[in-house]
Amino acid sequence: MSLPGKFGHMSTFHFLDDIDSIDPMPILVAPHPVLKQVATNVTPDDLEAIKAALPGMFSAMYKAPGIGLAAPQVGISKRFLIMDVSEKDAPREPKILINPEIIEESKESSVHEEGCLSVPNQYAEVERPASIKLRYSDLEGKEIILEATGLLATCIQHEIDHLDGILFVDHLSTLKRNMLMRRLAKEQKRKL
Ligand code: NI
Repeated sequence: MSLPGKFGHMSTFHFLDDIDSIDPMPILVAPHPVLKQVATNVTPDDLEAIKAALPGMFSAMYKAPGIGLAAPQVGISKRFLIMDVSEKDAPREPKILINPEIIEESKESSVHEEGCLSVPNQYAEVERPASIKLRYSDLEGKEIILEATGLLATCIQHEIDHLDGILFVDHLSTLKRNMLMRRLAKEQKRKL
């Protein structure tokens, strides 16, 4: 999927040339307590630390592979997330969204199968607004308004949920959620 406009400057993402040699940050797996926290707003004082974390975060996201990763998933309880919803084998489209805020959502909803790097190997259909309008800042502090639909809208809503301590399984019935979480716990135990 290609998007109108570009997000930030490519120089922000110069490390992508060597992304395969960058150590991925470890991704927290549910039920880790940081994943349940409401993350705090990013302030200008946070920007240097965020820039330092980006290579390890992108490395983790691309390696997984995933199309989005929110800061709490790597243990940073701050309101920012990274995404790349470009097609396989197409040029990369890395994005960073700082203090993203949904300002409008459609009444019409859509259902997509979702998975999450913090809930590995578990998938379920989740119903969300089909299109959204959001406001966020890029790394230079520029405010951007974006309208999103389809996969991008789903991905953004899923990642913003992470900033509020919400996982996609929280949108499911208790029965379904418990089933997925039990299966996850069993698989994680087997891995140890
Ligand atoms: Ni997720």
